[in-house]
Amino acid sequence: MVDYRAFFAEKISEIKGNGQYRTFIEIERLAGRFPTALHHHKDGPREITVWCSNDHLGMGQHPEVVAAMQRSIERSGVAAGGSRNISGTNHTHVLLEREIAELHGKEAGLTFITGYAVNDAVLGVLGKLLPGVVFFSDELNHASMILGMRATRAERRIFRHNDPSHLEELLSAADPDVPKVVAFESIYSMDGDIAPMPELCAVAKRHNALVYVDEAHSVGMYGPGGAGMAAQLGCADQVDLLMGTFAKGYGTAGGYLVGDAPIVDAVRSFAPAFIFTLAMPPALAAAALTSVRKLRESDNERILLHHRAQLVKSLFQEAGIPLVSTESHIVPVLVGDAHLCKELADRLLEDHLCYAQPINFPSVPRGTERLRINPSPVHSPAAVRHFVSAVDEVWDDLGLPRVPAPVTGSGTGTEPAPALRAGAR
Ligand SMILES: Cc1ncc(COP(=O)(O)O)c(C=O)c1O
Repeated sequence: MVDYRAFFAEKISEIKGNGQYRTFIEIERLAGRFPTALHHHKDGPREITVWCSNDHLGMGQHPEVVAAMQRSIERSGVAAGGSRNISGTNHTHVLLEREIAELHGKEAGLTFITGYAVNDAVLGVLGKLLPGVVFFSDELNHASMILGMRATRAERRIFRHNDPSHLEELLSAADPDVPKVVAFESIYSMDGDIAPMPELCAVAKRHNALVYVDEAHSVGMYGPGGAGMAAQLGCADQVDLLMGTFAKGYGTAGGYLVGDAPIVDAVRSFAPAFIFTLAMPPALAAAALTSVRKLRESDNERILLHHRAQLVKSLFQEAGIPLVSTESHIVPVLVGDAHLCKELADRLLEDHLCYAQPINFPSVPRGTERLRINPSPVHSPAAVRHFVSAVDEVWDDLGLPRVPAPVTGSGTGTEPAPALRAGAR
């Protein structure tokens, strides 16, 4: 007879043994004081600084975003009351969908309860509706994209990460007459690297493939008005379908798709992950709408984000702390061992009140375990210096290896690379 309890206890003890067990840190965000939060520690609550939040621009506490959500709750209550088809389409959803379509210069937009659901729904619909379709997928695509493609019987060919020549090779070998979808991300969150989007799009277009891009880690933070990396790199018109999330740069929650009206309409009409679930709460749509509008009007948050990221990187590099080299706002500190990575994070929290979540397998390959640091405009330069010196101290205590500091540059310069200046094209 199967002992279910023992079976699952054994599974958990396996991942505890190899350092993969995830421990949730219990915090309470403090509106108006982010990145400060309360940590519910075993000895009682205490204030910490959060270094791993996806609220990259601090929009989750923007007074106008908060007020928009409060006003909407007072007017419409807390929930949509149904799926989009059955009483759940609120006026605010429609306004938000218009806003994002306009932001990206596309015909239509559609909102979802999560960004995860967008990838699952859209790729699933393309796989099911396009006869004989073949997906060409970057090898490091997010789990939700892989799930969406796998849920269909469509063939999937994997191209080497960010490699347009490999994509070209795979597309050239495919039947020119079958429908093709090329799917990739604009910024990869674990390494913070940026896709060669114009090159990938050009290859895809040469082979008449539909281009699907996940811009979860760039919308709000890159491009004119926060329109994302494709807009920044000048290839937005080559992207047929773009997904974004409100859960990162926009500081709220929910996901979206923009693209040609008939394709967006097909997703609305055929995707189970869109049809058979509750619509996004109107108050969330109101908060997201305000956040999108604010970040269309103002570049300040983006400029500061990139300054802070640059400062964090420079200080780590001066200290010889190894980073995954990246041009984006994400700063991965490479530890390379699951247990040491957790120990580093534990000590930072316990002794220095700095919270950075360890990222271990399966999120990253074994041997590349890391702390992924997400600086933001609301992390002051003084907080950055405190954090880097805390990492420096624990790094020594744990006997972790250093790398030579780079000799070029001003060391603690705070100028972002030209390509990353807000609105640069
Ligand atoms: C690349 C990528 N796509 C999609 C998602 C899912 O977004 P959401 O958090 O809105 O579900 C994430 C979230 O981590 C992501 O990193």
